Amino acid sequence: MVKRYETRVVKPQLNNLAADPFIIEAAELLRAGELVAFPTETVYGLGADATSTSAVESIFATKRRPADNPVIVHIGEVDAVADVGDASDPRVLLLARHFWPGPLTLVIPAREPVRTAACRGLGTVAVRMPAHPIALAMIRASSLPVAAPSANLSGRPSPTTAQHVLDDLETKIPIILDGGPCDVGIESTVLDLVGPEPRVLRPGAVTQDELSAVLGCSIARAEGAALSRSPGTRYRHYQPSATVILVGQHVSDASVSHLLSRIANAGTLVGYIAETSPTEPTSSVIYLPVGHEAGALARCLYSHLRHLDARGVASIVVRAALADDPVMERVHRAASLVLWTDEEVESFHGDVSRAPSS
Ligand code: TXA
Ligand code: MG
Repeated sequence: MVKRYETRVVKPQLNNLAADPFIIEAAELLRAGELVAFPTETVYGLGADATSTSAVESIFATKRRPADNPVIVHIGEVDAVADVGDASDPRVLLLARHFWPGPLTLVIPAREPVRTAACRGLGTVAVRMPAHPIALAMIRASSLPVAAPSANLSGRPSPTTAQHVLDDLETKIPIILDGGPCDVGIESTVLDLVGPEPRVLRPGAVTQDELSAVLGCSIARAEGAALSRSPGTRYRHYQPSATVILVGQHVSDASVSHLLSRIANAGTLVGYIAETSPTEPTSSVIYLPVGHEAGALARCLYSHLRHLDARGVASIVVRAALADDPVMERVHRAASLVLWTDEEVESFHGDVSRAPSS
């Protein structure tokens, strides 16, 4: 039977987290096998006791997550990595000491009881120590490793505020710890340390260059068969309901304005996410700005996609630079169409219902 809750959104006090009543309550809920949504520096997580098969099962039921897609296990101290996995490979502690707490997830051989409860038969565990004081206080107070995927319904953009979690999971979970908007805004880098060569399974804020510098070897992105190690990559993530069109930063303002008006003329509301506002704003275009500083698009992307979906836009134009940047991987995954030059933009007919899907 599916339980219904009066979901509460609560704000732990940052100045005395270890004694905060909401942290203590969240830890008790986790120990009782319940789910708790909590902030991390990347995105909000939906946490459960990673040593309990039934608690982890309720994550899958609540998110409607595909059964074969394993979840990340979160720990509160670097040394706790040896409780959930085999940390005998010296690269594990080398990387952990360098990047934790932080947005790096390591895939290593799993240990019981986490292996049976949280690893979906893979024999490996993805583990990270998050860099958010509320997450760390909650994990430490629970004395448990905490299994937590992103706290969205499967297929929706990951949540970067407590309100996003509430939008997806109200009545499905007892409590959401509110830590304000997430600093990073996209999910952690996932690094596979099980295969013969370390491989990035999912790009994130910790870059391949930073990993290479610490390990002293080159690190590649996993491709093809190697990616099957990360079942999550088989699913289409980050999928808003609207059609997403990615337009290159170097396309002229005039071409972008033509594009927006052609789409709007087809009778639809259109969202526009870019660093500068459209030169010919109309009431059919909802413009959401992106800051100019490093990491600005990552911080606002999911929030903007959710906002525009809620406004009922039929299409969303994202204008961004083609950079080898983890946030662009998310934009590409969400996009049905990429228009990179003025010519490509001008020749697009503007009927988003006929945009090819990837
Ligand atoms: O930033 C993050 O990583 C956030 C916060 C909450 O920590 N969590 C997150 O979890 O994004 P989730 O479940 O949405 O994504 C986990 C990814 C999936 O692509 C999954 O397939 C992969 O990690 N993964 C989990 N366990 C794995 C394993 N044993 N081997 C390979 N990939 C694994
Ligand atoms: Mg996710």
